[in-house]
Amino acid sequence: MHVVTLIKGDGIGPAIMDEAVKVIDASGAKIHWEEAYAGLSAFEKFGTPLPDATMESIDKTRLAFKGPLTTVVGTGFRSINVALRQKYELYANVRPAKSWAGIKTRFTDVDIVIVRENTEGLYAGLEHYLTPKKDIAESLAVVTRAGSERVIEYAFKYARENKRKKVTVCHKANILKYTQGLFLDVAREAAARYPDIQFDEKIIDAACMHMVMNPNQFDVIVCTNMFGDILSDLTAGLVGGLGLIPGANIGADAALFEAVHGSAPDIAGKNLANPTAVIMAGAMMLSHLGELEAAERVINAVEAVVNEGIFVTPDLNPNSKAGTIEMGNAIVKAMQSS
Ligand SMILES: NC(=O)c1ccc[n+]([C@@H]2O[C@H](COP(=O)([O-])OP(=O)(O)OC[C@H]3O[C@@H](n4cnc5c(N)ncnc54)[C@H](O)[C@@H]3O)[C@@H](O)[C@H]2O)c1
Repeated sequence: MHVVTLIKGDGIGPAIMDEAVKVIDASGAKIHWEEAYAGLSAFEKFGTPLPDATMESIDKTRLAFKGPLTTVVGTGFRSINVALRQKYELYANVRPAKSWAGIKTRFTDVDIVIVRENTEGLYAGLEHYLTPKKDIAESLAVVTRAGSERVIEYAFKYARENKRKKVTVCHKANILKYTQGLFLDVAREAAARYPDIQFDEKIIDAACMHMVMNPNQFDVIVCTNMFGDILSDLTAGLVGGLGLIPGANIGADAALFEAVHGSAPDIAGKNLANPTAVIMAGAMMLSHLGELEAAERVINAVEAVVNEGIFVTPDLNPNSKAGTIEMGNAIVKAMQSS
């Protein structure tokens, strides 16, 4: 029995997480879910967006399955996602984007894995105003050799272990010569230790252009925090949208699995949210736990339902009458009949 801290989150979070739990429970893996709270809903309920009980649970389980959390734009508390990634040193954020046979997009054979540095860079949280009038503000980007080495090493190791051919570092070392330059230097050093993996480097703005024109040239990408955040939404767009992309936040002794997308307040409470991303994040968690057969069952069932395109949410098929719950039920059914 594996014990997992379950955080359903805000907005569409509870609806998609209920479907994900239903699917994972039907996969054959034995999971004991320890429910905890975070985000705006925790703030409204307990007066804090990250209650002590939630951290006590993760301290113990070292493993969390989390729905999206709302972070109000511009004001309010700091992102709890960023806080959790920093507290548990979840330094590698792995975001795979792969074309689906049943989803029509511009490209049919996209298969990109973004490995995003997850604890440093411009999201280190070092921001302040420089004047009492608050008319000048500054943010500090922090890039350390140790932080860069561990995530870049992870990307190369991931490439080797998953039979990938190439790692591309996306950077802006032409302008940000110290922070981005350090990250690029570390990537070049790592590349020399992995002669079996091709290495490429692209300046981030050109990388975006290349990615929308010819995504097939990318395989594994490694980059600093904010570039990875933005690029992974771009890869989501290439394969059919944010409802499809899972994410694993990996540390040395803890891990957190979630969808890449946010709490989607525009569709919350309407049974419209696509549960695929978070269910695929659940499959990544099962693999991480060594539950490989259960993970494969989940992936096969999700692929069958998504590619058939009938019991899917309207973001995948505008003519579909199915919603979040019906899609979850169809995935469970596909698993049981296989
Ligand atoms: N990991 C996280 O918890 C996380 C990640 C990103 C954003 N956020 C937070 O989420 C909130 C909303 O952010 P946003 O609107 O910029 O991004 P978002 O990802 O919530 O939504 C962007 C667009 O994608 C759609 N979308 C997202 N997920 C979907 C799904 N599963 N099915 C169908 N459509 C989906 C939404 O309806 C919206 O139109 C913000 O408070 C933000 O801080 C949280």
